[in-house]
Amino acid sequence: MPNVQPPAVSTLQPRARIAWITGAGGLIGSHLVRSAPQYASRWQVVGLNRAQLELTDRDAVRRRFEAERPALIIHCAAISRSTTCETEPELARRINVEVTTQLAELAREMPLVFFSTDLVFDGRQGNYRESDPPSPMGVYAQTKAAAEAAVLANPRHTVTPTGAEHLPATSETRPPVPQQQQGATASSSGTPGDT
Ligand SMILES: NC(=O)c1ccc[n+]([C@@H]2O[C@H](COP(=O)([O-])OP(=O)(O)OC[C@H]3O[C@@H](n4cnc5c(N)ncnc54)[C@H](OP(=O)(O)O)[C@@H]3O)[C@@H](O)[C@H]2O)c1
Repeated sequence: MPNVQPPAVSTLQPRARIAWITGAGGLIGSHLVRSAPQYASRWQVVGLNRAQLELTDRDAVRRRFEAERPALIIHCAAISRSTTCETEPELARRINVEVTTQLAELAREMPLVFFSTDLVFDGRQGNYRESDPPSPMGVYAQTKAAAEAAVLANPRHTVTPTGAEHLPATSETRPPVPQQQQGATASSSGTPGDT
C-alpha cells in the first residue's frame, strides 16, 4: 500500500477579512471605525482618511484595492455639505459620483455599503418608498441620487438612506450650548445639518 500522507493541518488562524471604511476622518466613518472592535471584531477594519488615500486618485485607489483585496467596502467619504456642493459642483460630482462609481466597479464581486440621503426626494410627496423615483433638488442631492444609481446597479451593494436626525450629536452637528448651560451636562439630541 502506498504511503499516503494525510494533508497537513494548518495551525495558522485564517486571516481576518479586511473591511475598508472610507471617510474615516468624517462624522459617520470615524464612528464606524471606533465601534468596529465592539461590533465587528472578526474584521480587520482599515479606516481610510484623505491623508491615507486620496479617493480622486483613481490609480492609487485601484493599486491599494488590488494590494489589500478588501472583502467589504463601507463608503462614507463624500462632499457632504450642500453649500460646498453648490459652490463647487464639479468637485462634488467627482467625489460623490465618480469616486463612488469607481469603488462600486472595483467591489463588483463583494458587498459595498453606500450612505445616501433622504434629500434624494424633494419632500413634496412624503412617505417615500425605496421604489419611488428620486426627485433631487440641488447639487448635493443630485450627486447622491446619481451615485445611488451606480451603486444599485449591483445587487450585492446596499444604499442606506441617512438623515441627520438619526445620528448622535457631535460638536459640529450639535447646536451651540447657550451660555448659561455651559459647564452643565447638556443633553445631546441630534440636529439636522446640511446633509
Ligand atoms: N451626517 C449626516 O447627517 C448625513 C446625512 C445623510 C447622508 N450622509 C452621508 O453619509 C456619508 C458620511 O457623512 P458624514 O457626515 O460622515 O460626512 P463628513 O463628516 O463630511 O465626512 C466625509 C469624509 O469624506 C472625506 N473625503 C472627502 N473627499 C475625499 C477625498 N477626495 N478623498 C478621501 N476622503 C475624502 C472627508 O475628508 P476631509 O475631511 O479631509 O475633507 C471627510 O472626512 C456621506 O456620504 C454623506 O453624504 C450623512
